[in-house]
Amino acid sequence: MTTVTELLQPVELDLEHLLTDLRSLIGAGHPILQAAAEHLFSAGGKRIRPGIVLLLSRALSDESELSSRHRRLAEITEMIHTASLVHDDVVDDASTRRGVPTVHSQFNHRVAVLAGDFLFAQASWHLANLDNLDVVKLLSRVIMDLADGEIKQGLYRFDAGQSFSTYLEKSFCKTASLIANSSQAVGVLSNLPEEKLKLLYQFGKQLGLAFQVVDDILDFTGNDKQLGKPAVSDLASGYLTAPVYYAIEEHPFLETLIAREFSSKGDLDKALDLVNNSNAIARSRELAQKLAMESREAIKWIPESPSQRALLELPEFVLSRLY
Ligand code: IPE
Ligand code: IPE
Ligand code: MG
Ligand code: MG
Repeated sequence: MTTVTELLQPVELDLEHLLTDLRSLIGAGHPILQAAAEHLFSAGGKRIRPGIVLLLSRALSDESELSSRHRRLAEITEMIHTASLVHDDVVDDASTRRGVPTVHSQFNHRVAVLAGDFLFAQASWHLANLDNLDVVKLLSRVIMDLADGEIKQGLYRFDAGQSFSTYLEKSFCKTASLIANSSQAVGVLSNLPEEKLKLLYQFGKQLGLAFQVVDDILDFTGNDKQLGKPAVSDLASGYLTAPVYYAIEEHPFLETLIAREFSSKGDLDKALDLVNNSNAIARSRELAQKLAMESREAIKWIPESPSQRALLELPEFVLSRLY
């Protein structure tokens, strides 16, 4: 199986550079917030989002040197992503992330909320300094969508009456928007025409949705160690994801268990059994596959290069996390 390091090999040095830059960008203004942010940056993470920005940047320019704006865009993308994780973990009361204690458990809630805000604010500042209004519009939209996604997820907790399309909308906001808009922003910085910008957006959107469906499957099938974060936690928190919607179609009783918020003894275990004893995981895999293939289709026009080959393999890599 291809590892993420192998996949991102064409931009390996760029990603090393990115980490050094991120550290210096976060600055020494607020030692405690810096420590909180640093805590997560050092823990690693797959760096798929900046990896995508860098691969696209290389694949779409013939120069051997990346422009400093393309690099900065990759950094902003990882900053926004990390900020959203810090806040998401507070909302979910999650204990671990990237294999280490979450910011709020290592420090406290106040520090985590401020550290997330601090990262979003830093990202906005560096975004504005790219001096490209189109890129500012694309990436500030992402910050709006992230908040909207968290709010939607909170409002729909334990509400099995919501439709599958609200699940996809929430997933777009929480995950796909960042990948779609940052992919399009690369095209803007590389002066591509409108029709190519649309395709870059489509690539990122379908890839992001596939990524979230895969994450939602792994929440059922993975373990804490492998994921570096608590597994089997979405359903317990009332977050209804693709596998749950499909399982309800086969086992309507699951809806009753969800509606009473697993308040009777053994409810949660029963609910998990119903998901596992159904075609829900298989159907979710098919959905992720379809989304991943649509994302690949959208970038077939990119000229051949090592970065382009890595980009074409990305959708398959996202799916391979399931096996
Ligand atoms: C986690 O994203 C949040 C989701 C969208 C599911 P990643 O799985 O990319 O997290 P890191 O950055 O590798 O830690
Ligand atoms: C992730 O969705 C997207 C985020 C922005 C924050 P999840 O809520 O599924 O992410 P994990 O599972 O906590 O990483
Ligand atoms: Mg979460
Ligand atoms: Mg998840």
